[in-house]
Amino acid sequence: MSNEFDLVVIGGGPGGYVAAIRAAQLGMKVACVEKRSTLGGTCLNVGCIPSKALLHSSEIYEEISHAKDHGINVKGTSIDLKSMLSRKDKVVEDLTKGIDGLFAKNKVTRFNGHGIVMGKGEVAVKPVDGKGSVESLKAKNILIATGSEVMPLPGVEIDEKRIVSSTGALSLPEVPKKLVVIGGGVIGLELGSVWRRLGAEVTVVEFLDRIIPANDGEIGKQFLKILQKQGIEFKLGTKVTAAEASDKGVKITIEPAKGGDQETIDADYVLVAIGRRPYVENLGLKESGVALNERGRIQVDGHFKTNIDGIYAIGDVIDGPMLAHKAEEDGVAAAEIMAGQAGHVDYNLVPGVIYTAPEVASVGKTEEQLKEANIEYNVGKFPFMANSRSRSTGETDGLVKILADKSSDEVLGVHIIGPKAGTMIGEVVTAMEFKASAEDIARICHPHPDYSEAIKEAAMAAGNRAIHI
Ligand code: FAD
Ligand code: NAI
Repeated sequence: MSNEFDLVVIGGGPGGYVAAIRAAQLGMKVACVEKRSTLGGTCLNVGCIPSKALLHSSEIYEEISHAKDHGINVKGTSIDLKSMLSRKDKVVEDLTKGIDGLFAKNKVTRFNGHGIVMGKGEVAVKPVDGKGSVESLKAKNILIATGSEVMPLPGVEIDEKRIVSSTGALSLPEVPKKLVVIGGGVIGLELGSVWRRLGAEVTVVEFLDRIIPANDGEIGKQFLKILQKQGIEFKLGTKVTAAEASDKGVKITIEPAKGGDQETIDADYVLVAIGRRPYVENLGLKESGVALNERGRIQVDGHFKTNIDGIYAIGDVIDGPMLAHKAEEDGVAAAEIMAGQAGHVDYNLVPGVIYTAPEVASVGKTEEQLKEANIEYNVGKFPFMANSRSRSTGETDGLVKILADKSSDEVLGVHIIGPKAGTMIGEVVTAMEFKASAEDIARICHPHPDYSEAIKEAAMAAGNRAIHI
């Protein structure tokens, strides 16, 4: 087999594998170098997919505990954690194998090893176990899609036993009596919800005085109340200064973020979820002269090109939201650009979803961002409490909030907490892609009785003419 390719992709996550397939579709001879034994990257192996499998399993368990509200008596429910985790592992296994199938179908050559950029046009593949010879691949273009890794917290050493990252938190050997989560962001609240539903007492320690800081402030406040009602305890404006693990548990030292008296908390496990950082370790960037930006991400121009001709980068390792669907869009656009086509991703219209119950979904600008940019806007809100479908199912927490430009009525941001929010946000992303006004959405016929009517009503509320509130 010749080791000369049109494109060598380093990293087989949602960014890398999608780019490899798209490039192959466009007629390129493509190789993908992945150091894991399975394809799919963080998302499939230890991220999106296993977390959603556990979120769903734990949600079923929680729903059963509310069955009585629907006149259903269920006796003797218990958790078989081992089976629940095996099911999750099987879902991951099947999906990663699926990508092998897609690679075969599209004739993408896969190399299992650690890829190193050796400069323009060359990638070395080192065996992961350090044994065996290094292979050299020649490439017209190189695409770096190496993703991200857990942000470490000084004083809190992750051992993946008692002090875990999201990866360890997806496979705890038991339901903790007490779980402390450091970081009130997406991972902390999704995985905190999983273990709370399965029976753990969960405390979230968040440095800021609010949770989900990237989201709209009002949504953050409402979400906090909902999670507190579900039984999660929050210590906001608090920092962890140390965590000491033993065989039996962890002693965590906390203090107010602004300084003050220290306190200790005993827990069975600690989850560190304070963000992720680009993964560029041992990638040969410095030696090849590939520039990073001030945030440590690979610097690219509007066409995913680094400062070195023929070397591109996409996904979590470059700027923009660290999300799988963003990485995929980057991958498609970068492959199309390499093939001489146009490719562009509008990061303002990348939706973000937190898969708790209720879900939190958002796209576009927050109120805080509009204020900061001095843009005048109208707000339309509609609570799920007033939505007939929500009343039928009992999922009445949350609201839809639409922000529309005051003069043009163009929808600038949509924020939803509620049932199926992650699915429903798709409607407004499409609308915003076509520059819809709030009135456009308000005049679209929505099915009844459906949660999506809350979107229509919020759009009507932006023009002061909501019907059902
Ligand atoms: P990655 O998926 O990180 O893939 C990079 C790949 O490159 C890895 O497989 C790595 O092994 C490989 N690699 C790195 N360096 C080298 C090298 N030198 N040589 C060879 N291979 C290398 N996003 C969502 O959109 N929705 C979600 O629900 C969601 N849930 C998440 C839950 C968790 C717990 C976590 C941690 C993340 C979640 N994410 C979610 C984020 C999502 O996983 C990432 O945004 C996405 O995986 C980024 O894709 P990527 O291709 O850029 O990088
Ligand atoms: P995050 O950025 O979402 O949240 C981190 C939180 O930790 C923030 O609230 C931050 O203020 C807080 N924090 C930072 N330093 C702290 C400290 N020292 N002590 C206490 N709190 C501190 O990061 P997270 O949750 O780790 O997730 C990483 C990324 O993974 C997300 O930003 C997202 O891009 C992706 N992800 C996406 C999911 C989805 O789409 N459903 C699910 C899970 C992860």
